Amino acid sequence: MPDQEEFAFKAGPEGAQPVPRKARSAAKSPPEPRVRPTATDLAKGQRDISVSEFFAKNRHLLGFDNPSKALLTTVKEGVDNALDACEEAGILPDVRVEIREISETRFQVAIEDNGPGIVRAQVPKIFGSLLYGSKFHRLRQSRGQQGIGISAAGMYGLLTTGKPISIRTRTQAKKPAHHLELVIDTKRNEPRVKLDETCEWEKPHGTRVEIELEGAYRGGQHSVDAYIRQISLANPHAQITYVPPRAEEHGAEHVFPRVTNEVPPETREIKPHPYGVELGVLMQMFRDTKARNVSSCLQNDFSRISSRTAAEICKRAKVATTRRPSEIEREEAERLHQAIQATKIMAPPLDCIAPIGGELIERALRAEVKADFYTSISRRASVYRGNPFLIEVGIAYGGSLPSEEPVTVYRFANRVPLQYQQGGCAITKAVASTDWKAYELQHPKGAVPVGPMLIMVHMASVWVPFTSESKEAVAHYPEIIKEMRLALQECGRLMAIYIRRCKREADEAKKRAYIEKYIPQVAIGLQQILGFSDRDRDQVVSNLTQVLERSRSN
Ligand SMILES: Nc1ncnc2c1ncn2[C@@H]1O[C@H](COP(=O)(O)OP(=O)(O)O)[C@@H](O)[C@H]1O
Ligand SMILES: [Mg+2]
Repeated sequence: MPDQEEFAFKAGPEGAQPVPRKARSAAKSPPEPRVRPTATDLAKGQRDISVSEFFAKNRHLLGFDNPSKALLTTVKEGVDNALDACEEAGILPDVRVEIREISETRFQVAIEDNGPGIVRAQVPKIFGSLLYGSKFHRLRQSRGQQGIGISAAGMYGLLTTGKPISIRTRTQAKKPAHHLELVIDTKRNEPRVKLDETCEWEKPHGTRVEIELEGAYRGGQHSVDAYIRQISLANPHAQITYVPPRAEEHGAEHVFPRVTNEVPPETREIKPHPYGVELGVLMQMFRDTKARNVSSCLQNDFSRISSRTAAEICKRAKVATTRRPSEIEREEAERLHQAIQATKIMAPPLDCIAPIGGELIERALRAEVKADFYTSISRRASVYRGNPFLIEVGIAYGGSLPSEEPVTVYRFANRVPLQYQQGGCAITKAVASTDWKAYELQHPKGAVPVGPMLIMVHMASVWVPFTSESKEAVAHYPEIIKEMRLALQECGRLMAIYIRRCKREADEAKKRAYIEKYIPQVAIGLQQILGFSDRDRDQVVSNLTQVLERSRSN
């Protein structure tokens, strides 16, 4: 928690300025009898807090806690949306990321996609208000969830540079492209449109978002460069073009080509599974439902409840199936909630998850890392708190990977790389708690193993349980960690077979070289002791060499 303890924020057009608390309270007058405010006085200060005001102050919750992370988060939010939009529309994504350095601390980020575009009327809400989006109210696998991604990036840009967010978008070749510039009014969490015009654009459909922000461009595992490499690894169907800042130093344009031409299968939206529902949510569902009675409410609003199961739940809860949902009392809801947990209900449908697939993971790994051995696994879907999820693991071993360092772990959730909070992530826990010594690696207790290995772990789910809004780490659900470990073990076993084979082969090669070296000596010895002719001696050499060769081909 960096800012809030020591600083209060004064947000102005030129950005948030920290004002030390001490300075604010410096002008203390001599002690006076303190007049305590009354409830009426307090009431004057009480008002709604807009969600944007809240997140402007608590920007670290969304991943904007320092300049280099802010740059990464902005790129990430833009790319997430670009990929989500393309996939929903069934388009092979072609995403361009440009970072232009304006000064050492200021950058302009542009993310351009060939997606379906955005209807003009929606643009201000999407980019100029927080918690507005299409993904929050549904259970479906996508990168975005909360509807605070891109608008938060725009807000951060506005706070730090005073510049509006610029959007260019087009939905069809027949229709004109629109260019809008807008800012977010943080007090009201509403957009203010600064520019709205139609424009020329060579793209038949797609969206380009430009944000100017205070940032820092750094290398290392948290960098934008690392992100781009990893996002292309987990999205083998996407072509990503990356234009880093300072082209003279970093190269002008890096293209990460797609390794498959198939868009991932469309994921289905599902209804919540009853096992995951909390009491308060259940009560809200009874209030909101269109169903006339409890039985049909349970059947329609949840997945996997048949009329028989609904009857069983009601019977157990001693609530009539015909009862009107809106009239259900709290005690009845509580009994129903308990009855749900006690009733055997089929697991949720699992075909709502689109894994990357073992084969594509391996292909992507081959394109990205030079190693000697690759393996991967895409496990069957499983369930946590009523939410279906699926774990995939890819491993690259040997080759150019450093052998004396802790292995590299790439973490992904719904195809998005997680680069921060490694220590607090369920993926790291699963890797560290797997017994890698059994798979021929060094493994310091409680840490990740050491060796020439890169591990990639992907969790796909209709709802990934992140530890915070900035979506940096997966929460420690035992069901999830168990699946991860099973996947790691499966890959680990295959890798161990490979490592043991290599060791055996190296051992054998050493022995052979030894024997090969001594065959002529043996022949010379035999010649001297038994009086062989030179021909016999050469024959012995050739026979023994042949025996050795024959054993090799076996
Ligand atoms: N590049 C884009 N193309 C099409 N639609 C987009 C694009 N970017 C954002 N959207 C729409 O705007 C919504 C809000 O985006 P965002 O604030 O990032 O929240 P989230 O992705 O969590 O829903 C998305 O749900 C999506 O419907
Ligand atoms: Mg988003």
